[in-house]
Amino acid sequence: MGATCTRGIRKAIMGGGAHKVCVCGGAGGIGQPLCLLMSMDPNIKELSVFDLNVAMVPPKGVASDLSHIESKVKVSGYEMEVGKAPKDHLMDCLFGCSLVMVPAGMPRKPGMTRDDLFRLNADIAKGIVEACARFCPNAVVALIVNPINSIVPAMAELYRKAGLDPSKIVGVTTLDCVRANKFVSEITGCHPYQVEVPVIGGHAGMTILPVFSQDYYGSRIDPSKIPDLDRKTQDAGTEVVSAKNGKGSATLSMAYAGARLGRAVLAGLSGQTAVECAYIKSDVTELPYFASRVQFGRKGVARALPIGKLNAHEQKRLAEAKAQLKSEIATGMKYAQQTS
Ligand code: NAI
Repeated sequence: MGATCTRGIRKAIMGGGAHKVCVCGGAGGIGQPLCLLMSMDPNIKELSVFDLNVAMVPPKGVASDLSHIESKVKVSGYEMEVGKAPKDHLMDCLFGCSLVMVPAGMPRKPGMTRDDLFRLNADIAKGIVEACARFCPNAVVALIVNPINSIVPAMAELYRKAGLDPSKIVGVTTLDCVRANKFVSEITGCHPYQVEVPVIGGHAGMTILPVFSQDYYGSRIDPSKIPDLDRKTQDAGTEVVSAKNGKGSATLSMAYAGARLGRAVLAGLSGQTAVECAYIKSDVTELPYFASRVQFGRKGVARALPIGKLNAHEQKRLAEAKAQLKSEIATGMKYAQQTS
């Protein structure tokens, strides 16, 4: 008899660490659940929720809501008028941040080309990255905004041009790993936490290359089923967009995936070993940017781990992925060259 003790559950809602984190676009579809999950990270002490004055919910409202959770994290909201330059307005929001997560940007709308989306979202990311360069140049900047394959090279090159470390710019591809793990667990009947499929290459269409052969359970799947499973992982985002009937894309699973990457970054910064797949400036292939398993450490990215052994199907797919990725990287590099 008596009341059930909920202290165990409440203890899991931690906070109380050493790091300040900002979520830019924190009042959006991904941003709100991402803020919630990041506020529960054991290595966080302070969370800035940043968004525009036209956001669906004022960021101060999101912060007020989150500040009532039984966590030690201090949450503050920051709002900026559309058209203003973040680098002139975000000092309090960004100063002292170890990690800035960026789901700020537009999802692709019907009739929009990939190039239209790139131009629009690259300009948004540029504003935020310039503010990071000014107020928290040592922070890891985790870009969720699409198209990641081009936006990460663009922003990393802008960092390099400004004399900063381009490896601070990290493209969040964790959702591809999360999906691949889940799909393998559904086929094999194991728990998803037992699966660890590395997803390499990039973060769009055929550049997404899940390496099932390198996971214990993935490698036991009938090889004839792998091409379909590979395509299912590539097309998973479209499946969510259709299921939401065009009224949104993957927001909740993306927030989960973003928080998983954020947790790895903060763990690394706090001196624990942490490895996650991410899309970064890389020397594991001949391409200058590539997603692979990345080890995070006290300064952010410590190193990109080698791709490892691929089977014949994966080698063929790698060649296709690289061809597409090459031109998407070039789009990003061109943007950085033409932008001051
Ligand atoms: P959303 O429209 O619900 O939220 C975006 C938020 O960004 C809005 O609150 C908006 O006010 C804010 N925003 C726009 N410009 C801003 C600026 N200059 N400064 C600060 N905030 C700004 O969109 P959603 O669904 O949250 O998606 C956001 C981005 O994430 C899109 O580009 C989408 O393509 C991308 N995405 C990436 C995924 C990945 O796996 N990396 C998966 C799903 C979406």
